[in-house]
Amino acid sequence: MIKIGAVSRPRVTNKLVLFIAALAAALLAAYLFWSFEASIKALLEHRMGANPSPSADTIISAVKLFLIGILAYLFVRALNFLFFGVAFRLKRIDAPTLIRNIFTIVAFTILFLIAFTFLFPDVNLGALFTTSAIFGVILGLALQDTLGNFFAGISLQADRPFQVGDVITVGAQRHTGVVEEISWRAIKIRTFTNHVVLIANSNAAREPIEVCPRDNINARLVFFNTLYSDSPAKTIHVVREAVREAENVSTKVTPVVRIRNLGDNGVDYEVKYWLEDYAKYNDTDALVRQRIWYAFRRAGLNFAYPTRTVMVERRGAVAQRDGDGGAITERLSAVDIFAPLSVEETGMLAQAAVRHVFAPGEMVIRAGDPGSSMFVVHNGRVSVQVNENGRPRKVATLNEGDFFGEMALFTGEPRTANVVALEETEVLEIGHAAMKRVFDTNPDLVESLSFIIAERRQGLASQIDSSAPASDASAGLLSAIKRFFGLSQ
Ligand code: CMP
Repeated sequence: MIKIGAVSRPRVTNKLVLFIAALAAALLAAYLFWSFEASIKALLEHRMGANPSPSADTIISAVKLFLIGILAYLFVRALNFLFFGVAFRLKRIDAPTLIRNIFTIVAFTILFLIAFTFLFPDVNLGALFTTSAIFGVILGLALQDTLGNFFAGISLQADRPFQVGDVITVGAQRHTGVVEEISWRAIKIRTFTNHVVLIANSNAAREPIEVCPRDNINARLVFFNTLYSDSPAKTIHVVREAVREAENVSTKVTPVVRIRNLGDNGVDYEVKYWLEDYAKYNDTDALVRQRIWYAFRRAGLNFAYPTRTVMVERRGAVAQRDGDGGAITERLSAVDIFAPLSVEETGMLAQAAVRHVFAPGEMVIRAGDPGSSMFVVHNGRVSVQVNENGRPRKVATLNEGDFFGEMALFTGEPRTANVVALEETEVLEIGHAAMKRVFDTNPDLVESLSFIIAERRQGLASQIDSSAPASDASAGLLSAIKRFFGLSQ
């Protein structure tokens, strides 16, 4: 494998000038040699004595063969250019370099052999090739690599696992770059540091090659992380929106943002995005990281860095811990069933409330489970669903300030429905003990609660079975709740 510095492509005009100069020089040399052939021969005979070996004629023929060889080579190059460079291009076909090279070799060999038999009529070429074992061995050894490359090149052209313009990564050293040429000897790739790497075809045939075709929408992964306090649902949304608008990110596939790991320092994520032009993935990765940084800034999200977080938690005392007891008291006082409570009583409930966050689609309550707490929706939305023939059916959507789970809490019966978070939802959980303390100080609350529960029960009964009678069961409920909470009847 050869690695060389950046090379600039020689222009066609430069090549033409070089070609004309070489042709002129070769023609001049041939003309001079033929003109002075007799004198050169005489000079050679004079210098080499009576019985020279090789003879002067042989030397003259060898030089002629050399000159004809040069002219034949130039002729074949010109033919190659006219045939593949002009005629093929006119038909908009780009002939592979390997085909052009094979053409050059075959045409040149034929011309050379014609010239050879013409200049050395006594030498039997066929016999030379077939009878000379030593010649065969030497040729075989000398051409071992060349032939290996040649046949590997042919198989590359036949299989076409990649083409000019594709990005490939080759071998254990993981050379990555854009394919510029596949010749009879090597694959030429230009790396992203603008170096040219030549990989011999026979090596490439042995190594694994990762191909990212030019006309395919190839994907990349970029990693980032957040603090544990940052919401995954929000992070995923923010990053997805930031990345999908970045330049060179394909609009055909929406980027995927997902959690890779719950790491030591924070939540580790990956964003998978697809590129329009894969060859520019370094720039696009960088742009994606930049967009994530700005999006984090705007959304108040935080990158995690090596930290040790020491958390001192007093379970249940959520309001104090978070320092936003005011917001929780305010939320609870706006809930209709708690309207009869005094400010102090609502404060007591707020102190005892425990906050929980649920991801979109997570189940907060499962029908049939036992339960001894109720919930108030603090942020987000939930759906109340009953199971009908084994399939969930939505009976209500509850928003911020609504409550649920009171039926099992107040009656001791199993949960009557599934409650599922529709988006990232924060709920405040109020347990049996806290509720009992409030009932002890404000027994009137039981009455208003029994109305609501009766109403919901009725709603559920009519949703599940429309023939069920809608009876007012609140009186029966009132005594059941009082019994369950050990209150005087
Ligand atoms: P619980 O039975 O403890 O658990 C499921 C909860 O879903 C239930 O309490 C109610 O709070 C709630 N629920 C049941 N039916 C309805 C309804 N029709 N409208 C609103 N909420 C309901």
